Amino acid sequence: MGRRRGKFITIEGLDGCGKSTQLEKLAGVLRAEGIDVVVTREPGGTLIGDRIRAVLLDSRTAGLDPRTELALMFASRVQHLHEKILPALDSGQFVLCDRFTDSSEAYQGGGRKLGSEPVLVLHRLLCGNLQPDLTILMDSDEAASVARARRRNQLQTGQNAVDENRFEQENRAFFERVRNAFLAIARREPQRVVAVDARRPLDVVHKEIVAEVRKRLRLAAGQK
Ligand code: TYD
Repeated sequence: MGRRRGKFITIEGLDGCGKSTQLEKLAGVLRAEGIDVVVTREPGGTLIGDRIRAVLLDSRTAGLDPRTELALMFASRVQHLHEKILPALDSGQFVLCDRFTDSSEAYQGGGRKLGSEPVLVLHRLLCGNLQPDLTILMDSDEAASVARARRRNQLQTGQNAVDENRFEQENRAFFERVRNAFLAIARREPQRVVAVDARRPLDVVHKEIVAEVRKRLRLAAGQK
């Protein structure tokens, strides 16, 4: 896919581990250093992707086959890649993405028990050899995830609330499989994936993430 000037950083982890907050804080640090940063997320990140996201996350979407779910995750991803991620990287921007293919491997491969193989095959077929320059895995335990999901479900009862609870209705065993799949990816690709313990205070986790980004991206490409 050629050399890209920007850096592609993804953040992964269970629902409710604080990913989005950490991604925003990291973006703030990078911007303060004069780096042009795009923050985005999956599923979604584009108009078409957001429509696919609505189908995927709405708890009224019952009876979705796990393979359909996987195909829709990649449908959203390919659009996102070509419409947003690759152009941004080509123009030298840093792309900070909340979830990417590792989430498909963990949730559909592990959680839904499809295994890693179909996910990796689809990635190669549809995304070519694009891999994040760095992936931060926010490791937390599944109990925290389930508890957060409950709180969020209780909060989202207003008239205009967006229903994004389909995954959050899953049980502890599901999230345990997801977590184990994430940890297996981190063991398999230690060069790309760094696991941080997300159960510590927000500021402690933030400092560690910033330190890892500086260390690893400087090592990889001599950039700040
Ligand atoms: P997200 O909005 O990041 O949820 P949260 O903020 O709770 O972490 O992601 C929505 C859900 O989509 C989340 O439960 C994980 C799931 N997901 C997959 O199952 N496979 C995927 O490939 C992606 C990108 C997300």
